[in-house]
Amino acid sequence: MNILVIGGAGYIGSHVTRELLDRGHKVTVFDNLSSGLRENLFPEAVFVHGDTLRYEQLVAAMRSGGGMDGAVYLAAFKAVGESMLKPEKYSVNNIIAAINLLNAACETGLRYIIFSSSAAVYGEPAYLPIDEKHPTNPENYYGFTKLEIEKFLSWYDRLKGIRFASLRYFNAAGYDLKGRIAGLEQNPANLIPVIMETARGTRKELQIFGDDYDTPDGTCIRDYIHVSDLAAAHALALDYIGKNEKSVTVNLGSETGSSVMEVLETARRVTGKPIPSRVAERRPGDPAKLTASAALARELLGWKAEYSDMETLVRTSWEAYRK
Ligand code: WQD
Repeated sequence: MNILVIGGAGYIGSHVTRELLDRGHKVTVFDNLSSGLRENLFPEAVFVHGDTLRYEQLVAAMRSGGGMDGAVYLAAFKAVGESMLKPEKYSVNNIIAAINLLNAACETGLRYIIFSSSAAVYGEPAYLPIDEKHPTNPENYYGFTKLEIEKFLSWYDRLKGIRFASLRYFNAAGYDLKGRIAGLEQNPANLIPVIMETARGTRKELQIFGDDYDTPDGTCIRDYIHVSDLAAAHALALDYIGKNEKSVTVNLGSETGSSVMEVLETARRVTGKPIPSRVAERRPGDPAKLTASAALARELLGWKAEYSDMETLVRTSWEAYRK
């Protein structure tokens, strides 16, 4: 298929682009490079330097190369803390951009959209593991924008026949196993990149946000999923909605929980670096434990996490960060 990857120069977007190219799709990357990186672009993919807030640029990109069959939308802002301080920024860049995308799809006849949603749509867990029937009650504005976009997608499915897959990622981590993606995220706030920056010495220490949670070692438990597993799910989701003409919403997680302490210990062992750490205050809004049920993705998409053991997550990250 002819696929437009919006946000394809970013961390997850570049892995998705690589996967789609490897599977024989024709890919056009659309990115404004606000956080995406030129070094994440591949010569086999066409690059359009464009902005999702410029409607006519989206329309032009969707008409290019003989017309796009589908789009992957990964161009949203994703910093949870920032979304609570600057909701305006998230309203515009996430929600308005998504409406532009949907309207441009209608105008150009693009039929399939793969949307990067998030476990953040669920909020504080009522039970674990979280399946797709879990109530949605986002605790932060970022998660709210993801849930709203899912609702727009459902309406455009009903009214305009645009089929979508909404992929609710848990904690994305790791790097391409073959080392083909070079760009590192700027100012990361997520656990594994922060640990990597500490290991390579560009950050002084890891702050562990609380060690008095109701978990075996007192630190929070999360479900880390390898970015290449996520990327494979995008390709499978595209196949699924194309073949079945039916939209889907699925969780993507490894179904395994790892505590902050366990991640840190694995990183110390794999990198051979001391990685200084200090216990700090709890971070507001952090649930003690989050794990996914990915049974629906397995059943519908035939997807399964293959590279999401902590050893592989950390090793592939370190290969990118040590350079
Ligand atoms: C993981 C754990 C922290 C940094 C976020 C979003 C979620 C989804 C995935 C996209 C937590 C602890 C972290 C640090 C620490 N995103 N930590 N020191 O918050 O689980 O999930 O990314 O959709 O919506 O909320 O990920 O990597 O920030 O934190 O102790 O310097 O590591 O407290 O327990 P989080 P994270």
